Amino acid sequence: MAEREERTFIMVKPDGVHRSLVGEIMERFEQRGYKLVGLKMMTAPKELLEMHYHELRERPFFPKLMAYMGSGPLVAMVWEGMDVVAQGRAMLGATDPLKSAPGTIRGDFCQATGRNVCHGSDSKAAAAREIGLWFREQELSHYTNDQHAKWV
Ligand code: PPS
Repeated sequence: MAEREERTFIMVKPDGVHRSLVGEIMERFEQRGYKLVGLKMMTAPKELLEMHYHELRERPFFPKLMAYMGSGPLVAMVWEGMDVVAQGRAMLGATDPLKSAPGTIRGDFCQATGRNVCHGSDSKAAAAREIGLWFREQELSHYTNDQHAKWV
């Protein structure tokens, strides 16, 4: 990866899948110029969700969060590009959709924190941990966006 290039973990939560927002969310990252390097759809097992949200296990909303996140299929993704961790969070908008600016994903598509359609890593350290939790190394792709620019 080039200098300042990094990877982040972005997830379309079950309500985002249910509301057919997967394409819209992916398109925003593609249009921004970020590169998709990992993609999978699954109904996440409880153990994986508990590991992902480990830091929140004592919070009162934790059982509701587990029920919501396990309620249906989600789409887990890894996006690569310049400053993509911070920019990905900016594109998602504030965690509470009512505080998310219009033009962000949450600011455009939802109203409640408990149904905020997407997740993005909040730091480089969190991105590394979350990518490692959801993907095996061989499930991540390495390619350049210009490698099919010419016919051969
Ligand atoms: S914290 O620790 O108070 O700053 O929490 P916050 O960063 O606001 O949120 C952490 C994640 O918990 C989710 N969350 C909730 N889910 C369901 N119901 C309620 N009430 C709720 N409150 C917070 C929030 O969406 C964050 O998850 P991600 O996956 O990052 O969006």
